[in-house]
Amino acid sequence: MGQQIKLIDRFRRLHRSLRLSVTDRCNLRCSYCMPAEGAIFVPRPTLLTFEEITRVVRLLSNRCGITDVRLTGGEPLVRRELPKLVAMLADLGTLTDLSLTSNAMLLEPMAAELRQAGLRRINISIDTLDEATFRRLTRRDGLDKVLRGIDAAINAGFENIKLNATAIRGITESEVIDLVQFAIEKGVQIRFIEFMPLDADRNWTNDGVLTGDDIRQRIESHFGALIPHRTSTSQPATDYLIDGKLAFGLIESVTKPFCNACDRIRMTADGSIRNCLFSQQEYPLRDLLRDGASDDAIVRQFIAAVNAKESGHGIGETNFAPPDRPMYSIGG
Ligand code: 5AD
Ligand code: SF4
Repeated sequence: MGQQIKLIDRFRRLHRSLRLSVTDRCNLRCSYCMPAEGAIFVPRPTLLTFEEITRVVRLLSNRCGITDVRLTGGEPLVRRELPKLVAMLADLGTLTDLSLTSNAMLLEPMAAELRQAGLRRINISIDTLDEATFRRLTRRDGLDKVLRGIDAAINAGFENIKLNATAIRGITESEVIDLVQFAIEKGVQIRFIEFMPLDADRNWTNDGVLTGDDIRQRIESHFGALIPHRTSTSQPATDYLIDGKLAFGLIESVTKPFCNACDRIRMTADGSIRNCLFSQQEYPLRDLLRDGASDDAIVRQFIAAVNAKESGHGIGETNFAPPDRPMYSIGG
């Protein structure tokens, strides 16, 4: 099986989780992520094949202690035959978690098949319950599809379904309570994610972030005092119970960074390793994979990426610069 190593960085963080982007294309154009027009996508031949991806995941799980894989995009469900990749990864038998982050536009007809293929968990992005706001935010129609996708995921029996809402000042405030209410009714958890400087349009400002504190206050004034419920140290969300049940979580990536507990590495759809959403450097893997590199050489590239990982994202520091690739191209 080759030598076993642990992916531990200079700050003693152990990496167990891989976020794997399978495409940078998307059927929405969320303003906090993509440009309205003229998004640039990687050429199709540069997309890693399912076989290439599976080889990398096999190596990482067999030799490097990666136990969790999350498939991301762009929108992962626009990658053709995604359930086939899910089955290939599930069939490795080495992962304890295999999950997907999706906008759910294409989920309704695929949910059962994905579940059958061995996908364990789904996180669904939903920022609004209002059609006009959905159209404004995503620059597309389709809230009805997203809602049907959520129901399909529930019916397909996924464990621990979560909803993600990007928290943007001026947009999210008026819907915080409705979104929490909606999640409670559906029996799933919703997590509010502070808006990060990852938008293609570079419109992010600090003032555009609807902070976790603000959201907490709004929810407390409606539902009463809240007590945080810590489930695991490596997960970025602080969870809260309402009526004794997990109801919502806050991912305060900007105001309370969780970088010190980060256990993630990322792979872009075109086969580059990134050690952070915000990293300025990538570690190319595709050419290695295509030029017949040994397993050891591939493992070494991951070690190099992890060794170079910075202590934190540095949003708010004077020398902070957003990454070259916007969110859709990195993978959420
Ligand atoms: N800031 C915070 N979250 C973002 N997402 C996309 N772009 C941003 C951003 N700029 C989130 C979406 C989605 C996931 C893929 O990433 O809410 O849930
Ligand atoms: Fe697509 Fe997700 Fe980006 Fe929205 S946030 S444009 S759904 S990749």
